[in-house]
Amino acid sequence: MRWLRRRGRHLAVLATALLALPLPAAASQAAAASPSPHPAPYALVPQPVSQQAVQGQGFTLTPRTPIAVLSKNAAAWGVGTYVSKMLAPATGYSLPVVRDTRTRKNAVVLDPNGPKSLGAEGYTLSSGKHGVVVRAHGAEGLFRGVQTLRQLLPAEVESHSRQPGPWTVSPVRITDSPRYGYRGVMLDVARRFYPVEQVKRYIDQAAAYKINTLHLHLTDDQGWRIAIDAVPNLTKVGASTQSGFTGGTNWYYSAEDYKEIVAHATSRFMTVVPEIDGPGHTQAALASVPELNCDDKAKPPYSGFDVGISLYCLQDKEHTANTSRFLRTVIKAVARLTPGPYIHLGGDETPQATPEQYGAYVKAATEATTARNKTVMGWHQLGQAAVPSGSIMQFWGEADDRESIGTPQETESIRFVRNGVAQGAKFVMSPSDHAYLDMKYDVSTPYGLSWSGYVPVQKSYEWDPATSTAKLDGTGSIVPAQQIAGVEAALWADRAYEGSNALPTPSTRWPEPHAYADYMSYPRLPALAEVGWTPQSARDWKDFRQRLAQHGPRWAAAGIGYHAAPGIPWPGTVKVVEGAHSVETGGKALDNPGGSTSDGTGLVLWAPNRGGNQTWTFTRQSDGSYTMTNKTSGKCAEATGGSGAAVVQRTCDNQAGQRWKVIPLDDGEHAIASAGSGLLLTAAAASDGATVTQQKSSGSALQRWTID
Ligand code: ACM
Repeated sequence: MRWLRRRGRHLAVLATALLALPLPAAASQAAAASPSPHPAPYALVPQPVSQQAVQGQGFTLTPRTPIAVLSKNAAAWGVGTYVSKMLAPATGYSLPVVRDTRTRKNAVVLDPNGPKSLGAEGYTLSSGKHGVVVRAHGAEGLFRGVQTLRQLLPAEVESHSRQPGPWTVSPVRITDSPRYGYRGVMLDVARRFYPVEQVKRYIDQAAAYKINTLHLHLTDDQGWRIAIDAVPNLTKVGASTQSGFTGGTNWYYSAEDYKEIVAHATSRFMTVVPEIDGPGHTQAALASVPELNCDDKAKPPYSGFDVGISLYCLQDKEHTANTSRFLRTVIKAVARLTPGPYIHLGGDETPQATPEQYGAYVKAATEATTARNKTVMGWHQLGQAAVPSGSIMQFWGEADDRESIGTPQETESIRFVRNGVAQGAKFVMSPSDHAYLDMKYDVSTPYGLSWSGYVPVQKSYEWDPATSTAKLDGTGSIVPAQQIAGVEAALWADRAYEGSNALPTPSTRWPEPHAYADYMSYPRLPALAEVGWTPQSARDWKDFRQRLAQHGPRWAAAGIGYHAAPGIPWPGTVKVVEGAHSVETGGKALDNPGGSTSDGTGLVLWAPNRGGNQTWTFTRQSDGSYTMTNKTSGKCAEATGGSGAAVVQRTCDNQAGQRWKVIPLDDGEHAIASAGSGLLLTAAAASDGATVTQQKSSGSALQRWTID
């Protein structure tokens, strides 16, 4: 029943229905002081391949600084005007875009005549007192480089209103190109309709992190969002619902709307991938087109929250022919509107389909796609059927799947992936336990689900696409490296409302789609963008979280309602130790196992979940130390004895063994030392169930704790 996971496990977390609403950004930590400074190399995301700080001053823009484009090429010129427009609101300048034949001083020079070795998206950027030069082999690389330039300017440059400046580009020399050619983000516009302006805004934000693909999940049970002239009912009936809403009249993109989205994406060097999901997730189509149903009767439009409820009728020749004809009509229309190479055919979660029925869908849909000279894309389930070589499959499995690799009980997903690999498919990695943006960050996240676990920012960052279909120890990848096309973050909208552990009620608050998207995507989308762009060897969580923190003010200036997630040293915030916290090291949290209420229970590490058994209330004592009281048990963390003694919980007594000194370290982490022994709180390993003891200071990373 793997396929029912996405929404099938939606009530599994009801135990946590008492949700704490998030505090506004930065309010959860008291304001004041600045974070540990982290100057050059600059706080760039994604981290470039190479970056050298340059001595001396940066280049300060003036109202007359030209943007000099060294080409007659229209696309390169377009990047020049893009830069001028991007800088205008905050600077108040309308920088002139000029054509030139050679590099000049005191200008922002955009040179698309760089060596071919830079590849389509690579670039070099050099800035110093006398100007900036971005060089690439073509306009696309210039555009990527310009996003780096943007991050070398002060955060206020992202503001929509005029700011004082000065506008100085930090001095640096960068050479950069992406690890993967496919770096996508998916918006579920089917469950929740995003008006065109909100899609364009999301495109702009994602482009700032060098995302180059926008996958639009255009159809599902709850709605059909793209007008097809030949089948007007699809939008008349099929677009009248969303998850939780009925009665809509314009919850779809007309051909003009869709073209506007595509044109905007194209101007940001982003490819649009339209998804027409099937053979399941098709209730909106079944409600619009009677002959797709076995009884030739239209189903009712659907605005609920269940999954696995629908299937095209593929039981007999006549209806299979109806489905094929329908798919040809739809795919022809969508292909015509889509300049990009891919049509995504879905293929996920089809509990009622027999292998024959599933195969009939894939045959019809893939033939309709290749007939339009488009490349087939689909969820990894598509691999169970015959697909054209060169198709792209999107892997959305999780740890259970990886764990099963090489065992006699490999999961269905792993078998489908193996089939896809054998057919020559390429893979885009969207492992749900890292790359699904609708998974809650932690127990306090108001929106989304957690069937694939919580996905805190660290988890969205710390994974390697090369091992997302490997065993848990990272060996034995079943998708060879050359068949990995890239990475995609997926923002589903199954539960885009507050209190999402339960079904909505009439008083449920629904954020605007853009607000939901902001909160769930920032800061995790930039983390995933770096996963796709930056070489694995250049990625490090501790370094990343310092850089990421510096983007908070950029998002604030841009009006992005981001989640000031714990674990990131956001500027302008300082850690207040007093109060309730998750205490973490090595990506794991200090845990009272099973929420024990017994004295003497040994504390361990466990995957962070922000539950009561991982919540520790720090209470300041007269000697400046703290007691740490577990929320579930009400007992205090205690170590008695010497080096190696277990840290346990016990009824609070305020003795020295229960008092802990919190010592700030350089990068926002802390050592936690027993006031009795002076020894440090130490985890045995960064793994679930690892024991926690007190030990001499050893410099180990497992003696460094974040207190979030
Ligand atoms: C999926 O999450 N059903 C692709």
